[in-house]
Parts: sequence; C-alpha cells; structure tokens
Amino acid sequence: MNKFAYSALVAFVSSLLTLITIVWVVPTVAETEGKVREISLDELASHNTADSCWKEIEGLVYDVTDFIDRHPTPASVMTEWCGRPSTEGWVDKGNGRPHSAGAEALLDDFLVGYLAGADVDLDALNQPATGSGAASAERPATAVDAGAGRYRDGSYYAEAEPGSRGTFGIIEITVKGNRIVGVYYDELSRDEDGTVNYRKSADMNYAERWRRVSGGVTQLSTYPAYEQMLIEQGVPEGVDAISGATGAYDAFVGLATEALSTAR
Ligand code: HEM
Repeated sequence: MNKFAYSALVAFVSSLLTLITIVWVVPTVAETEGKVREISLDELASHNTADSCWKEIEGLVYDVTDFIDRHPTPASVMTEWCGRPSTEGWVDKGNGRPHSAGAEALLDDFLVGYLAGADVDLDALNQPATGSGAASAERPATAVDAGAGRYRDGSYYAEAEPGSRGTFGIIEITVKGNRIVGVYYDELSRDEDGTVNYRKSADMNYAERWRRVSGGVTQLSTYPAYEQMLIEQGVPEGVDAISGATGAYDAFVGLATEALSTAR
C-alpha cells in the first residue's frame, strides 16, 4: 500500500473510532434528563389501576396515581383512563370544557416520559426544569405558577346578606395541593326550614330575561366563566369582569376574597 493510501486509511479509521466514541459516550438527550424517556403503549397499558395509574396526554405520559385522591370527582372518573391515551378526557372533562391552566400546571409534577412515536419537542422537554416541571416553559404564566395563589387545603365557604328578593350569593372553594381546584358560585334562596328552594344557576326564565337585556350574556355562561378564571388565576384579583355581568362580578370577587381570607 502506498504512503498516501495508508495515511488516508489511518485518518478514516481514526475518525470512525472518534465517531463511535462520541455516540457511545455521549448519552442521548432523553437519557441525560432521565425523567423524560420513551414509553411504549404496552408499558403505558400496564399501569392501568388505581395503584399505578399512568395516562398519556398530548404525547406525554404522566404517573397520576397520587393525584387520584386529590382529584375533585369520584375516583372512577380518573381511574377509567388509567393506562390509556387520555387526551380526550383531558380536553373535555365531560362537560365540553377543558382542564384549567391551574390543572395543567399540576400535570408537570407527574411527568414520566413521552409515548413512543408521539410528536413531542424533546429539546424543549429536556431544557433544565424551571420550577417543578420539564414542560412548564411552554405553558402560560399564571398567578398559580407564580405561587401567588397558595392556600391551605380544605373547603372554604362565604355567604352574602339576602338582597331585596331574598336571594343571597354563596361561594364554595375547594383547595387541594395548596391550589384552588374547584369553585361553585350561585345565588340561592332558602325555605324557612333552611332547604334551598332556588338556584339562580338553574333559573332558565331569569337567563331568558337577562339574555334579552344583555345581548346574549347570562348567568349560565358568566358564573362558570368566573369560576374557571378563579381556578386558573388562583387569586380573586386575577378574575376579569365580563361586560354585561359586572354585578355578578362584584359579588363573586367579594365572596371569593372573603372565603379565601381564612385559607391563607
Ligand atoms: C384524563 C382523564 C380525566 C378526566 C375525565 C377528568 C375529569 C374531570 C372532571 C369531570 C372534573 C370536574 C368538573 C369540572 O371541573 O369542570 C375535573 C376537574 C379537575 N381535574 Fe380532571 N380529569 C382527568 C384527569 C385529570 C388529571 C390527570 C389531573 C391532574 C392534574 C386533573 C386535574 C383536575 C383539576 C385540578 C380539576 C379542577 C378543575 C380544573 O382545574 O379544570 N384531572 N376533571
């Protein structure tokens, strides 16, 4: 072999060895993170019980076992999806509404990996985690993320004085994992024996009258919207007034502030 061919061969073999060393020594992005690894459908399916409950949501796989008891529904709503691709249950809680940004922020804590073949941005996932979750960088910043809405776990209730028609506003706020996970706001009235005999949230005649004067806005949409905003923002100050429903806004924010004052 002439000198030139020999040097070319040595150069080729040594660059090949360098390449092999790099591939062998430098771990893949997913391996460095450890937390974010590929998970097959079979592996996902093997975690299909309340004792080990994994769910795939939008390509990512979460171990939500510890959250089953904290989820604000009977456990069966959660366990029905264990071991399964669950985006459908996530984006529609069964009432046509998706989970809140607050719920999404909770998800990060449960991340175990991504489903094989899922179209996920591994580079983004493997960014050094800011806060608790690897994917939090993609998510909108809310008061919940900033920790402004941290409360003691429990149920908090406040009730307003009855107005001229005898109805009064009430709010019930559920805090789990130090965050607001459920809000119920309504205007009620009671019989003398204390039984609730009226809920404005279910008063279709009132909705119809309100619709006519407000150009479409009614308590049927504004009460849930205020509830959702409080869950998402974590603090009453984060709730925005909806035009045409400022009376309900004032009552909602006042009661929410009162109820949460005992939760700090
Ligand atoms: C994929 C299956 C799931 C289904 C079918 C489901 C269904 C529901 C339902 C019916 C509610 C109560 C009704 C409502 O608030 O409008 C709810 C609320 C909630 N769920 Fe889930 N859920 C699922 C998974 C999860 C997971 C994995 C988490 C964990 C982060 C979670 C966190 C929450 C929270 C924080 C709420 C309070 C309301 C909100 O923030 O949206 N859920 N869910």
